[in-house]
Amino acid sequence: MNINKAEFVISAVEPSQYPEDALPEIALAGRSNVGKSSLINKLIQRKNLARTSSQPGKTQQLNYYRIEERLYFIDFPGYGYAKVSKTQREQWGKMIERFLQNRQPLKMVMLIIDVRHEPSKDDKMMYDWLKFYDIPVCIVVTKADKIPRSKWDKHIKMIKNTLGTLPGEPIVLFSSETGLGRDEVWSIIVERISE
Ligand code: GTP
Ligand code: MG
Repeated sequence: MNINKAEFVISAVEPSQYPEDALPEIALAGRSNVGKSSLINKLIQRKNLARTSSQPGKTQQLNYYRIEERLYFIDFPGYGYAKVSKTQREQWGKMIERFLQNRQPLKMVMLIIDVRHEPSKDDKMMYDWLKFYDIPVCIVVTKADKIPRSKWDKHIKMIKNTLGTLPGEPIVLFSSETGLGRDEVWSIIVERISE
């Protein structure tokens, strides 16, 4: 997929700010620092449209990016960052759950997991929410370049087991460094938004 036009639209803090043009939406969820913004940048082949940082917990709103007048990517705020206050954490939970419950244009959530680590309780909770609200999920296992290829299979199995994924559910090994998995992720997205 070649992307000519990709633009930041809004950092939405409340539903009245969500776009109203009904383009299909693909959201990215995952822990702080897992590589959500990097994944967006890699998909659209821009160095820094989605803000990346080595400082976790940076993205606190729903960041909307419009791609080719065809879809939106929504960069969710990362979860699981220790220094975030309890109140902020609760606000985050409310905002995300309300979004997942009501958002008509949402076609799929990409749940981003670091290939090196067992999914956390928060990852499992997010996965369970998605199942509960019947939202299609694609699990993207990122930072593949951080472990040797010989360990990929084992780590993928561990991630599937911990999350309790269903047979046939898409799970893609990805790297924002090398571009591994980029085409596969795009073909899953295109399939979802064309249905
Ligand atoms: P928050 O917005 O804080 O939730 O983080 P995020 O999930 O958007 O992570 P971000 O894309 O900012 O990446 C965090 C760090 O991981 C950055 O230093 C990235 O360069 C690095 N990173 C992301 N993806 C990869 C990858 O596939 N491989 C490697 N080696 N580094 C990565
Ligand atoms: Mg980010």
